[in-house]
Amino acid sequence: MNRPRIVVTGKIPDAGLALLRQAGDVWAWDSGEPIPTDVRDEQLATADAVVTLLTDRVDDAFLDAAPKARIVANVAVGYNNIDVPACAARGVTVTNTPDVLTDATADLAMGLVLMVTRRLGEGERLIRSGEPWKWGMFMMLGAGIQGRRLGIIGMGAIGEALAHRARAFGMQIVYHNRRAVDADVEARLDARLVSFDELLETSDVVSLNCPYSEATHHLIDAAALQRMQGSAFLVNTARGPIVDEAALVDALRSGEIAGAGLDVFEHEPEVHPGLLDLDNAVLIPHLGSATVETRDAMAVLAARNVTEFLAGNGPVTPVTP
Ligand code: DGY
Repeated sequence: MNRPRIVVTGKIPDAGLALLRQAGDVWAWDSGEPIPTDVRDEQLATADAVVTLLTDRVDDAFLDAAPKARIVANVAVGYNNIDVPACAARGVTVTNTPDVLTDATADLAMGLVLMVTRRLGEGERLIRSGEPWKWGMFMMLGAGIQGRRLGIIGMGAIGEALAHRARAFGMQIVYHNRRAVDADVEARLDARLVSFDELLETSDVVSLNCPYSEATHHLIDAAALQRMQGSAFLVNTARGPIVDEAALVDALRSGEIAGAGLDVFEHEPEVHPGLLDLDNAVLIPHLGSATVETRDAMAVLAARNVTEFLAGNGPVTPVTP
């Protein structure tokens, strides 16, 4: 019997590859560099299943090159890199990797809250610069977060996990979401659903934890930044284009907001040059899910999506168009 052909467009952990190899003949791009389009398309031509990374753009051109493919398994919870309606129109199933990266991403978001409010990146840069320094009563004072309000935009699994962490640091939680979370979750977190404007106007830290889509493109634009308090901070571990980066640079420069902690960027991997000079911006290279354990779990879940699908059981975590 012919074994299915599985193409993996980027380097993924061995745990995922091992599982895929049980289900079919695997061809995997084995470099940290992006796969050249001609190499990719040559492989896609005979692929029954494709495993993709968030740096792949799965659009009509990609799908045209993969006429036999029935499933695209993205190794990421976000799937804004995939044209899901185009896949659906061709009968191609799309899957992502929810849940397995919730803790790692929430940890990083909390880390950014602490870094930006306590000026940790700035302090680290000072030591490394070799500039003389000494302890001072008024040296590099930051903002305490106990009793402060964290406004979470997007109260999915990651938003909720961040709220748990922030509660442990004594923060109060408000959130903005399409719908309220379960009453018992709200009660446990002492969290309140508020309007977008109320969240912006009253939060000491605003954290973005919503998916990126046309609807959330530049959700945080100049007008939204203007609504935030001058003492407030913005944290983004979701997707870069949710923020109008040029407007953010202006707001950080003029002191319209106090600071920003960013794990993601509008034109990733490029970073707006204006951000690079700003001490009140903490800049991290998209490390939200970057732990060994989490990346293994993401690769295994993507592989399980493929193996279950090929076995006729349906994918584990399908994305609905
Ligand atoms: C995701 O899975 O969407 C994350 O951004 C990866 O780090």
